[in-house]
Amino acid sequence: MTFEDQDVNLANQPCAASHAARATVERARVGAALLAGARSRRAVLGAAALGVLGVAAACGGDESAKESGGDQPITIAKANVPAVDGEPFQGSDGRFYLVHNQDGVLALSRTCTHMGCKVPWNQSEACFHCPCHNSKFDRNGVEFAGPAKRPLALVQLSVRANGDVVVTPDKQTDRKEYDPGQAAPYPPGSA
Ligand code: FES
Repeated sequence: MTFEDQDVNLANQPCAASHAARATVERARVGAALLAGARSRRAVLGAAALGVLGVAAACGGDESAKESGGDQPITIAKANVPAVDGEPFQGSDGRFYLVHNQDGVLALSRTCTHMGCKVPWNQSEACFHCPCHNSKFDRNGVEFAGPAKRPLALVQLSVRANGDVVVTPDKQTDRKEYDPGQAAPYPPGSA
């Protein structure tokens, strides 16, 4: 079975079950890549270059993946802020989700880090599940199945004293992992 086959299998599993399995597959993948690199470094580099070119051609470059408009901050009323570990709230412009976890609230871009599709929340799987190539992201936006290799971008937000959350969709930050410091304490003053 190839690593691609294993990715497909993981993508077809429930989110929670495939999260740990993905870590095992990734360790095996890295080991195989190192071995292949020792045998033929030139072949590995060539394949990587072709992969980059293929993604660029399919995406039309990074610019096509960006959504337009919506540069004004969006206020999410306190009443719409999800409960801790509740279903994420989708922003009115369709560009982000507001998540409430044990650390606080954070806003996540809906743009898949694989090739830019919009990623919906899947309540039955309890994760973000991209319909294009089956990448999956946990509640904090961290990838764990499918071809995506980076978490969903973090969207800037602030919490008002009255409990409303103000999100600025145009201000996004790429990241490599989830850190509790990425969440703003909620309710306000609970830090
Ligand atoms: S765009 Fe390919 S998995 Fe999301």
